[in-house]
Amino acid sequence: MELSGLQILALISVFLVSALVLHYSWASPKAMEGLPGSMGWPIVGESFSFLSDFSSPSGIYSFMNKRQQRYGKVFKTSVLGRFTIFMTGREASKILLTGKDGMVSLNLFYTGKQVLGPTSLLQTTGDAHKRLRRLITEPLSIEGLKKYFQFINTLAVETLDQWPGRRVLVLEEASTFTLKVIGNMIMSLEPTGEEQEKFRANFKVISSSFASLPFKIPGTAFHRGIKARDRMYSMLDSIISRRRNGKDYQLDFLQSLIKKHSKAEGEDDEDKLTDSQLKDNILTLLVAGHDTTTAALTWLIKFLEENPAVLEHLKEEHKGIQESRKGGSNLTWSEVNNMPYTSKVSSMSINVYHILLAESSSVLVTLALPYNSGYNIKKGWSVNLDVVSIHHDPEVFPDPTKFDPSRFDAPLKPLSFLGFGTGQRMCPGINLAKLEISVFIHHLVCRYKWRPLEKDDSVQPTLVRMPKNKYPIVVEPL
Ligand code: HEM
Repeated sequence: MELSGLQILALISVFLVSALVLHYSWASPKAMEGLPGSMGWPIVGESFSFLSDFSSPSGIYSFMNKRQQRYGKVFKTSVLGRFTIFMTGREASKILLTGKDGMVSLNLFYTGKQVLGPTSLLQTTGDAHKRLRRLITEPLSIEGLKKYFQFINTLAVETLDQWPGRRVLVLEEASTFTLKVIGNMIMSLEPTGEEQEKFRANFKVISSSFASLPFKIPGTAFHRGIKARDRMYSMLDSIISRRRNGKDYQLDFLQSLIKKHSKAEGEDDEDKLTDSQLKDNILTLLVAGHDTTTAALTWLIKFLEENPAVLEHLKEEHKGIQESRKGGSNLTWSEVNNMPYTSKVSSMSINVYHILLAESSSVLVTLALPYNSGYNIKKGWSVNLDVVSIHHDPEVFPDPTKFDPSRFDAPLKPLSFLGFGTGQRMCPGINLAKLEISVFIHHLVCRYKWRPLEKDDSVQPTLVRMPKNKYPIVVEPL
C-alpha cells in the first residue's frame, strides 16, 4: 500500500505530537529546574548547535566543552527531541557504568529497538542481561577466538593482495573485511559467493535503517531495514534447521549456541535460548561489532600515515616478529597475542577518535547526581555519559590530542579509558576487535607503504565516527 504525501505528513504530525506528549510526561524542563544548563529554543532545544558540532572534525567535544566551561561537569539540555543530562568525569562514569546492574538501561532509538528485536542483549537489563550475556558472549573469549585466527589471517592477506595499483577506499575495505570475519565466525559463511553477497546486502540495509525516521511505510529506510532483517532471519532459520537435522555441521558460533543453549520445544530452562533470542542476538553481535571495528581500523591506518614516528616504531615491532620466525612464514597465534606496541597504538586510535561519542542511558531508579551537586536524576530521565571529554581531560592525559601511544605505558587511573566501556556492559567483543586489527596491521606494515589521495578531515555525522571521504589511498609494495 503506497501512501500519499498528505497522509505521510499527517502520520508524521501524529507521531511528533504523541512523542512530545509522552516526553513531557516523563521529564520536563520544569522537573529539571535548578539543574545547570539551558534547554534552548522550544521543541528544537539546542539541536542545531549539537548537530553542527557533531559533524565537525572535533565532534561533539566542542559542544560539550563550551557548556562544561559554563556549567560544570553536569548540565541539562534538550537535543534531538529529548530532554537530557550530560555528565562527564570519572565519578559520573562510576555511577552510570559500574553501579548496580539494572539501574540504567541503554537508550536505543525506537528504530534500533524495532530492528534488533525485543530479546536483544542491548534491550535486556538486570539478571536477564547477565544470563543472556554469559550465553551469547562465550565464543568471544580469547580461547574461543583461537579457532578463527587462521581464517582472519588468510583473509587479511588476500584483502591486502588486492590493494596495490588502484584507488583504495580504506573504510569500504575495512567494512568488507570485518563483515566477512564475523559472517564466518557466526555461521561459516564463505568469504565469496552468492550467500555472502546476500548477507552483505541485507546487513547494509539493516545498518542504514538504524538512525532513520520511525515510519514503517513502504519506501522508507526503516521499512527497508525491517524487510532486510526479516530476510536475514529467514536465512538464519534455514541454517538453524539444517544444523538441527544434522544435514550440516560446522565448528562455528551458531553450532555451539545450538548445541549448548538452544531450547527444545516445550522446554523451560532459563539458561537456554529460544530461536528468537538466538536470532536477535546474532544480529546484535553483527551490529555492535561491525561499524565499531571498521572505524577503528580505518582511523588507525589514517593515524599511522599522519604520525611517521609511531609508524616506524610499529614497523620495528612487526619486522622483529617476522625476523624471529625460524623458517615459518605465517603469523602465529602466539605472535599475535604478543604485540605490546600494536596494542597501545590501537587503544590510542580509539582514545583519540573516541569511536562511540557518548553512552546514552535511561535511568531506571532515582539516582543522586555526582560531584555533590545535591540534585537527583529521576527515574525515566535520559542521561548521557560524555566519554569524549573524559578522554580529553588534561589531568588524565597531558596533551590529550597528541597521538602518543606511550600514554598507555603506565597503568591508567581507573575509569579514564572507556573506549570499550566498563562494568556489566563492557564490550564483550574487545578481544575480537583487537585480533582483527593486529592481524591486519601486521600484514599492512610489513608489506606495504601508502599515501592518502585527499587531505580531508571531515567526519560522517553518525554515532560511530568515520571519515566522510572513506579515506582514499594508493598503496605500493615495500
Ligand atoms: C574497536 C571496536 C569496538 C569498540 C570501540 C566497541 C565499543 C563498545 C562500547 C563502548 C560498548 C558499550 C559498553 C558499555 O555500555 O559500558 C560496547 C558494547 C558492546 N559491544 Fe563493542 N566495541 C567494539 C567491537 C565489538 C565487537 C567486535 C563485538 C562483537 C562481535 C562487539 C559487541 C558488543 C556488544 C554485544 C555490546 C553490548 C554489551 C552489553 O550490553 O552487555 N563490540 N562496545
